[in-house]
Amino acid sequence: MILQVALDHEIEIPHYCYHPGLSIVANCRICLAEVWAPNPRNDNKLEPIPKLLPTCQATAGEGQVVYTDSPKAIANQKAVMEYLLINHPVDCPVCDQAGECYLQDYAYQYGRGVSRFHEQKIKQLKKDLGPHVLLYADRCIMCTRCVRFTQEVTGTSELLVQGRGATEQIDVFPGIALDNELSANVIDICPVGALLDKDFLFQQRVWYLKRTPSIDGLTSSGDNIWIEHNQGKIYRLRPRTNMDVNTWWITDEVRYGWKFVHDENRLTLPAIRGEDPYERTEAPLAYESAYAKTNELLDAAKHIAVVISPMLTCEDAYLLARYVLEHDAEVTLSIGPVPRHGKDKTFPGGFTLYAEKAPNARGVRRVLEKFSANVLDYEAFLGRLRSNKGIDTLLITGNYASDWVTEDFIKALGKGADRAVILIDTLPTALTDRTAVVIPGATWAEKTGTFENVNNRLQAFDRAIKPIDYCKSEAQIALDLEADRTGEAPAVYDAKQTRRTMADVHALSEFVNDVHLPPEAQTVESDMELVEL
Ligand code: SF4
Ligand code: FES
Repeated sequence: MILQVALDHEIEIPHYCYHPGLSIVANCRICLAEVWAPNPRNDNKLEPIPKLLPTCQATAGEGQVVYTDSPKAIANQKAVMEYLLINHPVDCPVCDQAGECYLQDYAYQYGRGVSRFHEQKIKQLKKDLGPHVLLYADRCIMCTRCVRFTQEVTGTSELLVQGRGATEQIDVFPGIALDNELSANVIDICPVGALLDKDFLFQQRVWYLKRTPSIDGLTSSGDNIWIEHNQGKIYRLRPRTNMDVNTWWITDEVRYGWKFVHDENRLTLPAIRGEDPYERTEAPLAYESAYAKTNELLDAAKHIAVVISPMLTCEDAYLLARYVLEHDAEVTLSIGPVPRHGKDKTFPGGFTLYAEKAPNARGVRRVLEKFSANVLDYEAFLGRLRSNKGIDTLLITGNYASDWVTEDFIKALGKGADRAVILIDTLPTALTDRTAVVIPGATWAEKTGTFENVNNRLQAFDRAIKPIDYCKSEAQIALDLEADRTGEAPAVYDAKQTRRTMADVHALSEFVNDVHLPPEAQTVESDMELVEL
């Protein structure tokens, strides 16, 4: 279509109802342009097509000339904008969409600047459509993107157009909420402030948000996302278009799963059993003694077992495994529990929701297998723990979004009476109080690294926010522990450098050749600053 060709060449034609992931309905009429095309019945002479054409629905052809700024095209744009704004409340100062609203942008670029409408506007009520979505009906321009999304992508058809003419509005069927696993994508595709996110409502003006390209850190999908944040706090996650992975969408569980990053119970200081971490006034001292104690325990160990969580990055796994192997060449390496919920589910639009709820089980295994031919999965590890009295010291990593420690695990640990446990984790669990040393880890949003998704695609991502309080990435902790052991100055973790080392030293060349890097140029910094008065 002409519009898509123009967009592919970074030429803007205003559009509301067109979305590349949905069927074309050409109902908003803002994209109309004057098209001249060669006429085969007149020696292919260039002739104007009498009516303006919707560029979203008209095929691009050889030799065409498209005018989007001719007097006719401009007159149409002004007329469409005027009609769309007739009943619009123009409540931008209190609208969450302000700053990223196509109605605002196009009113500025293509509108007339003043309203000629003096009659009473039709008012529509705000509606609660489902667990995540609110509808401000009088801001809606009836582009029907949201309706088509529920019909074509999810196949759930919760949304419909109700009524006719000036009083028509988007609605749900009585008693049926907009509650499917992809429901919040309608908020992103709504070009105006009609569909808003309950979770983000009035939380932050969008021009203060910085966005960092990242990867889903909660499930095995490897969905490409933007983490949007300000002053060290995450405010929302949104899909980042990648036609090879998630196209334009993400699931609601990925979109809202980041809350544990700011959980008030996060582990934030290292602790040694029997010592009060708060007695030390400074975090570096707490780290110093936690590192010394860890090295002391591992040096004294007869046989060490390591559990590397599938929530960690490949770089974390590599540096931790390398560190522990210095202590025990026969170390038992295993992967932490990989949660699964239900079955994979593919929606009619082709998007798949994966049952596996860990971002990097494959990547961790890929790395660990370079160190040991016999990497255990979690069940096998529990079996080994129950039967093998030889394991006397464990290094365990967690970093799950919720409590992950099962009774089985605690029981299996208890089989060896004096087993020492060193834990690197983010949230307190039943294990935290049973450990000799606890070191606080950083969530995926607080570090750089690489995940391998369910389709074996290696994707690197950037750090969105600094680690909370005194937390550190597991990779940095491993480097610090190495330095504490050798007495050298600790290296500062660098993801790219680590991947090069992985390739050079351990023949993991895919971490240099096959990693999909985040789009550097697209890290958008806000050009405004909040000034406290
Ligand atoms: S609610 Fe938004 S996406 Fe749905 S029809 Fe209205 S403007 Fe379009
Ligand atoms: S974008 Fe073409 S008619 Fe709406």
